[in-house]
Amino acid sequence: MKNARTFVVTGASGGIGGAIAEAVAARGHRLVLAGRDGTRLAALASRLPASADPVWVASDLATADGRAALVTACTDAGGAGGLINAAGVGCFAAFERMDDDRIDAVVTANLTATMQLTRALLPQLLACGSADLVNIGSTFGSLAFPGHAAYSASKFGLYGFSEALRREFADRGLCVHHIAPRATDTALNSAAVNALNDAMGNHSDTPAVVAQAVLAALDAGRGGRHFLGWPEKLFARLNLACPALVDKALAGKLALIRRHLP
Ligand SMILES: NC(=O)c1ccc[n+]([C@@H]2O[C@H](COP(=O)([O-])OP(=O)(O)OC[C@H]3O[C@@H](n4cnc5c(N)ncnc54)[C@H](OP(=O)(O)O)[C@@H]3O)[C@@H](O)[C@H]2O)c1
Repeated sequence: MKNARTFVVTGASGGIGGAIAEAVAARGHRLVLAGRDGTRLAALASRLPASADPVWVASDLATADGRAALVTACTDAGGAGGLINAAGVGCFAAFERMDDDRIDAVVTANLTATMQLTRALLPQLLACGSADLVNIGSTFGSLAFPGHAAYSASKFGLYGFSEALRREFADRGLCVHHIAPRATDTALNSAAVNALNDAMGNHSDTPAVVAQAVLAALDAGRGGRHFLGWPEKLFARLNLACPALVDKALAGKLALIRRHLP
């Protein structure tokens, strides 16, 4: 990994973002922690080594003011040399029963706000000369799943964002990493999602597994895409190459999935 820098971690009050913050801090980097729950951010900051010199910002990144507060904190911290976008919301719901506000909230939290924050922090990242951008996607960002239409759409969008930015900034000193976890044990998953995963025999990772994948991507020193978990990584790639095969496999699971839909 490159020299010690200031990493911004969004979603740091959550399971995956919190684990990533701890792992990045253990490598000697400084941290700006972002989330909405200030109590959880303060508790995380108090657990980090002094070398992390943690600053935390409790704000809603779906708002322009919330993003501006985070950008200002990064400027005050001397500039961001890394951005890890781990903020996000889950959504397991029958699409026909969703209203416009819920669709909007999922796409805004998982995609639009992430793009807007990234753009706002780009001048700081590019000024660093050798920065990393990590987007936390999902298996469902390359394997769209029944009951997850809005979530899958947002994560497919995030995957496209990662791919385009990596190519657009390939000669500007910005490494873009896309990490796509499978099911992970955090508060994001509702009881219905956990019950469906159990019924389908889907394994769930700890947040530490995702954090280690982030460190490995940073260590590799080049941008790329990383799908986590077996067989999820196979199906994610299969869906990109031969989607009709996955249509058929999931058609056979539809009745089971419908039984778990809230
Ligand atoms: N858990 C899984 O099974 C799984 C699998 C694949 C991918 N992922 C992805 O991993 C990422 C982290 O999720 P997680 O599992 O760690 O979930 P989590 O524990 O629920 O954490 C979600 C985090 O996102 C923050 N957040 C959500 N909306 C926000 C907003 N409008 N403004 C600011 N912060 C906001 C939350 O902040 P507050 O709590 O402070 O409000 C929290 O810190 C998400 O992008 C998720 O899609 C998760």
